[in-house]
Amino acid sequence: MEILKTLDFATWTPVLQNDEAVDSTRALESGQVALLPHLSFELAADERHLLSPQWSDGKAKNISYDPQTRMVKHTSATGADHEAIGRMMGRYAESAHKLVGSLFPAYAKGIRIGRTSYRPVEAGGRSSSIRKDDRLLHVDAFAASPVQGERILRIFSNINPNGKPREWTLGEPFDDLAPRFLPKIPKPFPGSSWLLKTLGITKGKRTDYDHYMLQLHDQEKLDSHYQQTCPKTAVSLPAGSTWIVYTDLVPHAVKSGQYCLEQTFYLPVAAMQEPALSPLRKLEKWVGRKLV
Ligand code: SIN
Ligand code: FE
Repeated sequence: MEILKTLDFATWTPVLQNDEAVDSTRALESGQVALLPHLSFELAADERHLLSPQWSDGKAKNISYDPQTRMVKHTSATGADHEAIGRMMGRYAESAHKLVGSLFPAYAKGIRIGRTSYRPVEAGGRSSSIRKDDRLLHVDAFAASPVQGERILRIFSNINPNGKPREWTLGEPFDDLAPRFLPKIPKPFPGSSWLLKTLGITKGKRTDYDHYMLQLHDQEKLDSHYQQTCPKTAVSLPAGSTWIVYTDLVPHAVKSGQYCLEQTFYLPVAAMQEPALSPLRKLEKWVGRKLV
């Protein structure tokens, strides 16, 4: 299977024939990265000054925006700059939302928009801990925010003004990755999901699915031998491009790059074109029981 599925659209509202939409959805669900090399997210003249690492608060990895509340978090910006960051990220959230609606019309009913992130800091720099280090190959899973079986679909745009690509590495297919690590993953501790929620460690119940995905995420990052020796492919994501990937399915790592916008979406497995391709259904098959 090709790693990239190139889509030649240069608009956030492309019009697809039905078979084209089925085809792009199948590519994504099968674990390809949909790359739109000519779809750039344009900044207005009075937004260019937002391209600086100074707007990060220096603690969190990313500046974060909630499209529902329009709240911006983890930025040092105040006043007009803070508002400008919110406007830029809000516009990105809207553009990304339109794009998924156009490319994957079958998802319209089930899809839910999550947080928007802006990544103005060089990604090749240092990280605070191995678990938080996205320069290591991993599938996405959130310790504090369980997805309870839902898919994590992400849209990224490289908005680097100097033509610098974002360099990623992609790992082996989930069908090779998960069975490799599953035997090392301890069973969820009875009562732990209740305890984590009661103590306020998780927002919502950490299901057995979340347990397995978080363990996969952690074990893959913590295994330095695996990181060095596993099958991998380098992918260069050009400045001025946009790409879409199921980051819960496709092991990925960012090696370098600066200035990126990202929009997260959640999708129930039942809303997929082919639910059997979900990490939930695959893990349930391997573990031999229901996980949510
Ligand atoms: C990640 O999602 O793991 C990091 C990707 C990036 O910042 O390019
Ligand atoms: Fe990730």
